[in-house]
Amino acid sequence: MDDLRDKYIAAIAAATDEATLEDLRVQAVGKKGEVSLQMRELGKMTPEERQVAGPKLNALKDEINSALGAKKAGLEDAALDERLRGEWLDVTLPSRLRGQGTVHPISQVTEEVTAIFADMGFGVAEGPRIDTDWYNFDALNIPSHHPARAEMDTFYMHRDEGDNRPPHVLRTHTSPVQIRTMEAEGAPLRIICPGGVYRADYDQTHTPMFHQVEGLAIDKDISMANLKWVLEEFFSAFFEVEGIKTRFRSSHFPFTEPGAEVDIQCSWVDGQLRIGEGDGWMEVLGSGMVHPKVLQAGGIDPDQWQGFAFGMGIDRIAMLKYGIPDLRAFFDSDLRWLRHYGFASLDVPTLHGGLSR
Ligand code: PHE
Repeated sequence: MDDLRDKYIAAIAAATDEATLEDLRVQAVGKKGEVSLQMRELGKMTPEERQVAGPKLNALKDEINSALGAKKAGLEDAALDERLRGEWLDVTLPSRLRGQGTVHPISQVTEEVTAIFADMGFGVAEGPRIDTDWYNFDALNIPSHHPARAEMDTFYMHRDEGDNRPPHVLRTHTSPVQIRTMEAEGAPLRIICPGGVYRADYDQTHTPMFHQVEGLAIDKDISMANLKWVLEEFFSAFFEVEGIKTRFRSSHFPFTEPGAEVDIQCSWVDGQLRIGEGDGWMEVLGSGMVHPKVLQAGGIDPDQWQGFAFGMGIDRIAMLKYGIPDLRAFFDSDLRWLRHYGFASLDVPTLHGGLSR
């Protein structure tokens, strides 16, 4: 028994991998292992002999098993140490200048818009870019025969013959998030929703994918006056010009009643656009009081609650603020353009620290 013990304890100590350990386990304490075979001999012994040999064999079996376990843990630790040495990385080293990225103007402006509205108590909501035609149209009071559906140049998702899931579209505006947020949160509500939208259109001021920010405020006594104040506050902060004037022109959207297009004050001096001065006007967004049918579709009682909503082009206000002439360049991934118009990645826009530097 002592020979067995010495043999296996030495072999286990000398093992350098788990496969060897497993072989040793089978040879010693496996079903047909040497220790197990010895245990079978116990039956042939006299009771006196068995009383001596039995406990000794059991102790030997335990000793070998625990030596195997300890060695296995040791090998695992060594493997981990080895890996840690190989994958060691000094995270305090300065970053390489080559390859330093910039923040895209769309991301920058989205951050700026979010900071300004957050200051006025608006949270940020999100919704899917692929949505059902119910959220994109019907719930917004645009039934299937409505001409607004055709005007939107909608991208429809492919559907196989016999597929009876609801039709899906690439959302044509961020307005479906109005419905989703009403459903999820109920009233009162104060949110913006920035995000990508899609329409089949392509020229200097249109790309098939672009960005909007939706605004929605619902409460018991909200009026167009609140809408006007919020927007004027926003434009002054965004364009960093005190007291920008807005002009509301009556307009029609199926999901508002009444609806208005909003222009901001501007002038052209020597071919240069100046926002917030002069007597010219520039259209920047659509807005209005949320239509009662839209509140209803979102599960909110229009007899108790009312609200305003607006939808604004993020790319468009980015072009105006940063003097970017062609929308298509936003999405060309041209490194020279990105370096020129990009923003330093660590300058996060805040109202107190400055929106754009
Ligand atoms: N969804 C409209 C559009 O894309 C904009 C809008 C939003 C108008 C909210 C009124 C109210 O043109």
